[in-house]
Amino acid sequence: MKRPFLGVTIFTVVIVLLFVYIGEVLTKVSGEAVKGAGHGVSAVGATPEAGEAIFWRKGACYTCHSVGRRGSSIRAPNLGESGPLNMPIGARAALRAQERTKQGRPMAATDYLVESLAEPGAYVVEGFKNEMPLVWKPPIALQPDEIKAVVTYLQSQGGTVDAAGIDKSPFLQKLKAAAATAAAEVAEAWKPYMPGDPKLGQEIFFSPESPVGCGKCHATKEKGGDVGPELTHVAATRTPQFILQAILEPSKEIASGFDSILIQTKDGRLITGIVKKEDVASITVADSQGQLQKIPKAEIAERVPQKTSLMPENFGEILTVKDLHDLLAFLMTLK
Ligand code: HEC
Ligand code: HEC
Repeated sequence: MKRPFLGVTIFTVVIVLLFVYIGEVLTKVSGEAVKGAGHGVSAVGATPEAGEAIFWRKGACYTCHSVGRRGSSIRAPNLGESGPLNMPIGARAALRAQERTKQGRPMAATDYLVESLAEPGAYVVEGFKNEMPLVWKPPIALQPDEIKAVVTYLQSQGGTVDAAGIDKSPFLQKLKAAAATAAAEVAEAWKPYMPGDPKLGQEIFFSPESPVGCGKCHATKEKGGDVGPELTHVAATRTPQFILQAILEPSKEIASGFDSILIQTKDGRLITGIVKKEDVASITVADSQGQLQKIPKAEIAERVPQKTSLMPENFGEILTVKDLHDLLAFLMTLK
């Protein structure tokens, strides 16, 4: 009585396992077929889900932007409801487009979103600086289909998802043409630099004896100061050219949120630093030594915004050419 029943059970289990196995093999094969078809170029669907994955990973958008309460970056406008105009970016884009149209560049909401990625410097959000990288150039190097996916994700934040509208945007056409040559341009720009030793660069960065003391003001991952911007992901979004300029000419472009001020106290003291905290009674600044100074407002005679960076201007003189390339090599590992 029992034996045939057991036989049937084993037979069923074997068949089911066989189907599962064949199913696995088939998905693998078809997955590979899809990859191969693109010749190494990613084939990304223009869906908010695909765009969301890019936003929070390859696109490195999250290193500067948060979306509502998701993320912790504050260097760039929040793209959720808590952002400018108290509207998520999908809805905000419509008002931005109206503003751009009044400024003489007629566009619809979708165009504004594509323009923000194609040419971020064309319209700079109030209170921020023109410091968003060209995300279609290395090191981020999003492909046009990835940009489309990201735009549908932005549209899905309070706006209307319209993948067909993205294709029609003239900004996408411009971007496609520019993206095709971007990688070669960046490779060309690398040529003047010699390869450095990242290990030695890291020592220079953190060494308390070194006169440069980058680590006194900058943190990478777990250690370092917080006078200047955290550099944990700097190479994920910035080219070596940008990083070199930041080191050699820090005042040329001062990162948003890191402008320094000069405070003169009533008893004649002068303090230069970056405002880290302020309330009705006092102001706390980080000075060039990485020290926090809390100054009661009642003691302040004058406070003057500065045009120069708190970062020392003389690295070009105190670093040897080799030190500079070792430092650059170290910074390029911070992805
Ligand atoms: C290194 C920092 C940085 C990175 C990385 C970055 N952005 Fe930005 N972004 C900014 C800054 C700063 C602004 C505000 C200045 C401006 O308008 O150009 C901005 C502005 C924007 C705006 C306009 C917001 C508004 O209120 O109108 C959009 C949209 C945007 N970014 C999307 C993205 C997306 C999507 C990515 C990733 C593919 C990205 N950004 C990556 C810094 C960054
Ligand atoms: C006294 C503090 C201080 C020291 C020392 C210092 N920095 Fe800075 N750094 C800053 C501040 C403040 C900023 C932001 C203002 C600006 O953009 O100039 C900054 C900006 C930067 C940026 C641009 C970051 C971005 O995201 O825009 C880079 C890169 C950088 N520093 C690298 C270095 C390196 C490498 C060293 C050592 C050779 C160094 N810094 C030493 C304070 C410092």
